Amino acid sequence: MTDVTGRVAIITGGASGIGEATARLLASEGALVVIADVDDDRGSALAASIGATYAHLDVADEDNWARMVASVVAELGDISILVNNAGVAASTPIATASTADWNRVIAVNLTGTFFGMRAVAASMKAAGGGAIINTSSVAGLVGTPGISAYVASKWGIRGLTKSAAMDLGPDNIRVLSVHPGAIDTPMSPAGDRKPGGQIIPRWGQPEEVARMILFLAADATFSTGSEFVIDGGFTAR
Ligand SMILES: NC(=O)c1ccc[n+]([C@@H]2O[C@H](COP(=O)([O-])OP(=O)(O)OC[C@H]3O[C@@H](n4cnc5c(N)ncnc54)[C@H](O)[C@@H]3O)[C@@H](O)[C@H]2O)c1
Repeated sequence: MTDVTGRVAIITGGASGIGEATARLLASEGALVVIADVDDDRGSALAASIGATYAHLDVADEDNWARMVASVVAELGDISILVNNAGVAASTPIATASTADWNRVIAVNLTGTFFGMRAVAASMKAAGGGAIINTSSVAGLVGTPGISAYVASKWGIRGLTKSAAMDLGPDNIRVLSVHPGAIDTPMSPAGDRKPGGQIIPRWGQPEEVARMILFLAADATFSTGSEFVIDGGFTAR
């Protein structure tokens, strides 16, 4: 595996679930991890326990991004890895969805991903290149009833990833999307629910997604603009 020791890696939504597992794995591999989240208590406690840095970041706020990236570069150096993982979901059936719910999901999931890529691009170029992993979903590959804003945001991330890969490729920056299925996290707790429609009849674990993200950041050196599905076979039908 390619060494990530000493590489600066920002993980948005790094305080919980898939982001937390990714922060733990990258830190254990020697990366200089920055956990960027709105959950300051959880994020700073996790950062302290794994030797990472915590930064308050609302991904939907472009000024937050500018401040956070400037302080990371000043304190740790140029950024090599960005995991745009922060995400929210809301019930938004087309006939009754509120405009506020629609706007919040798009702002965090889709606009936040754009803000993140734009904010780190110059630093990654200065680092000689890097990798950006954008967390989409199986909801970015198929439709799902009742969560129109979430589905639109995740399909948007998929297309945005491909365009960004073309824009940033000349600077040796790879941009990839990951598409998890049913993963047992606080956003989507397994509880007593059985996952439906999969080939592998169990919930995925956040650590399994984290291992794919590490592979994409470190070793998928000839992949960019492409989709990596981790869904127990949900979309194989
Ligand atoms: N769990 C699943 O089954 C699943 C499936 C497919 C995709 N995903 C995606 O994976 C990503 C992580 O989800 P998870 O299941 O680990 O959820 P989670 O709720 O456990 O973690 C999400 C994290 O994002 C943070 N966050 C929320 N809004 C933020 C904001 N505006 N700025 C910064 N941080 C913010 C939260 O504080 C939290 O720490 C999300 O993008 C989600 O859509 C999850």
